[in-house]
Amino acid sequence: MTTSTLAEDVPVLELHHASKAFGAVVALSDGTIEILPGEIHALVGENGAGKSTLIKVLAGVHRPDSGDFRLDGQPVTFSTPADSKAAGISVIYQEPTLFPDLTVAENIFIGRQPRGRGGLISRSTMRTEATKLFTTLGVPIDPERIAAGLSIADQQIIEIAKAISLDARVLIMDEPTAALSGVEVERLFGVARSLRDRGAGILFISHRFDEVFGLSDRITVMRDGAFIATHTTGSVTVDAIVREMVGRDISALFPKQEAAIGAPVLSVRGLGRVGVFSDISFDVRAGEIVGLAGLVGAGRTEVARAIFGIDKYDAGSVEVSGVPLRPHDPQAAIAAGLGLVPEDRRKQGLVMELSVTRNATLTLRNALTRFGLISGAREHALGEEWSRRLQVKTASPDLPVATLSGGNQQKVVLAKWLATDPQVLLVDEPTRGIDIGTKAEVHRLISDLAGRGIAVLMISSELPEVLGMADRILVMREGRLTATIDRADATAERVMFAATKTLESMP
Ligand SMILES: Nc1ncnc2c1ncn2[C@@H]1O[C@H](COP(=O)(O)OP(=O)(O)OP(=O)(O)O)[C@@H](O)[C@H]1O
Ligand SMILES: [Mg+2]
Repeated sequence: MTTSTLAEDVPVLELHHASKAFGAVVALSDGTIEILPGEIHALVGENGAGKSTLIKVLAGVHRPDSGDFRLDGQPVTFSTPADSKAAGISVIYQEPTLFPDLTVAENIFIGRQPRGRGGLISRSTMRTEATKLFTTLGVPIDPERIAAGLSIADQQIIEIAKAISLDARVLIMDEPTAALSGVEVERLFGVARSLRDRGAGILFISHRFDEVFGLSDRITVMRDGAFIATHTTGSVTVDAIVREMVGRDISALFPKQEAAIGAPVLSVRGLGRVGVFSDISFDVRAGEIVGLAGLVGAGRTEVARAIFGIDKYDAGSVEVSGVPLRPHDPQAAIAAGLGLVPEDRRKQGLVMELSVTRNATLTLRNALTRFGLISGAREHALGEEWSRRLQVKTASPDLPVATLSGGNQQKVVLAKWLATDPQVLLVDEPTRGIDIGTKAEVHRLISDLAGRGIAVLMISSELPEVLGMADRILVMREGRLTATIDRADATAERVMFAATKTLESMP
C-alpha cells in the first residue's frame, strides 16, 4: 500500500482532521482532503463512509466540530453555504436542489438575474445566456420550461450549467454521473476537463471505478469517517483502492446463476404514450431477467412507470399471467404481484420522516393490512432482516431514513420491494449509488429472485451490469424498442449500437 501523498503545491482548498457528529453518530472523524488548482480529484469510499458529510463541510452546510480548514493556504471559516459560494466554491449535491416552479433559466440565475434597462430582470438575456451554456454542454434543454418534471439527468446538467456560469474556482460534485449514461457522462467529463485546464480544482464522488480511473488525476479514499490515503491515479490499481475502501478483496459483479425459465408472466403489447414511447411489446418469463438498456431519455423509466400504473398510456395492454392489468392503477398492479423499485428513490421510494424499519416494510404493511395479518413484531423482524442483508448502515433501524447516507437510502428502497416477494419485479437502476461491496449482494439477491421463478425487468445504464445479469437485453432508443439481444450474442458494442445508432457498422 502506498502511503498518503499529499500535495506540494498550495491547495486552493484543504481540510485536515475535521470531525463532525450528529448526536451520537460520528459521521466524520478525520476528514482530510487537499484540492489543487488544475486537478480532478476523486473521493471514494463505501456507503456511509462520510463523503457527503465532508463535502457539506467544504460547502459551509455543516460547521465541523474540529479540524483545520484553509483557502489558498489561509485559515477560513464558512458559516453558511453563501460564504463558500462567495469564495468561488460551487457544489452539486447528491440530490438536485432545483426550484420546481421556476424555469430552467431562472434556476440557473437565481439570486443574480441579469438586469436590463430600468433595472428590470432581463428574461431575454437570461434565456440567451442559458442557451449558450447548454450549447457548451451539448444538451438541448429548453431554458424557458419549468423545472418540475425534468429527469434527474437534466436536473444535474442544469446544476452544472449554473456552476459554470458562476465561474467556480472549485467545483465539487457528489455522484454527478449516477443518473447519467454513456454519452451524457462523456459530455460531463469533457466539461470537467476543460474547467480543470482553465485552472479550476474539481472534486467528485463516484461509485463507478471506470470513471474514477478515467477522469481523475488523484484519488482520496475514506473509510468509516476517516481519511485513508491520497494516490496519484496513474500509480495505483483498482484492487488496491477497493482494498483500502472495504478492508478486504471483493468482486464487483456477482456471477449470474442459471435459472429455469418458464412461461411468460409479464406481457406488454403495443404499449404507447404520445410523445414518450410507442409500440412497445415484449414478454418477461418466470425466472427470466430481462435487461432494458438505452440512453437516459430513451423512455425506459416511462415504460416501467406505465406498466406499473403510475403513468397513463394511450395504446396497448399489459397482462400478468394472462390476466389483463387495469391501466393507471398502482394498487391493482401491486395486487397482481408487481413491484417497482423506482429510479428517483428519494422522491418516489421513501417516506423520509419514517424509520428505516417502517420504510422497509411499508409496502408489505399494505399487503398485510389487506389480509388482516398485521404484526408489529413481524414487521420489525422483516425490517431488520432486510437491513442486514443489504448492509444498511445506520446507528439504529428506528432512526428516520432522512439521516441515512444516499447509498443507504437506496438500499432501504430495494429492501422494501424485495420484502414483498413480487411475481414480477421492475427495477430501475438497482445499483445506482450503491457501493462496490454491496453491489455484488444486490446482484445476488436479484439472481435469487429469478431463481425462485420471479420475472425481472431490469433497467440499467451500466453495461457490465446488463451484460452480466440479463438473459435477454431489450434496447430502447427515442421511445422505441430497437433491438432484442440474447445473452449469448450480447456485447457492449451491439447494445451501444442499438442505443445510439452512431457506430459506423454493426459489429
Ligand atoms: N443529518 C444526519 N443525522 C444523523 N446521521 C447522519 C446525518 N448525516 C449523515 N449521517 C450519518 O453519517 C454517516 C456518513 O454519511 P455520508 O452521507 O457522509 O456518507 P457517504 O460517504 O456520502 O455515503 P453514500 O456513498 O451512501 O452517499 C452515515 O452513517 C449517515 O447515516
Ligand atoms: Mg453521499
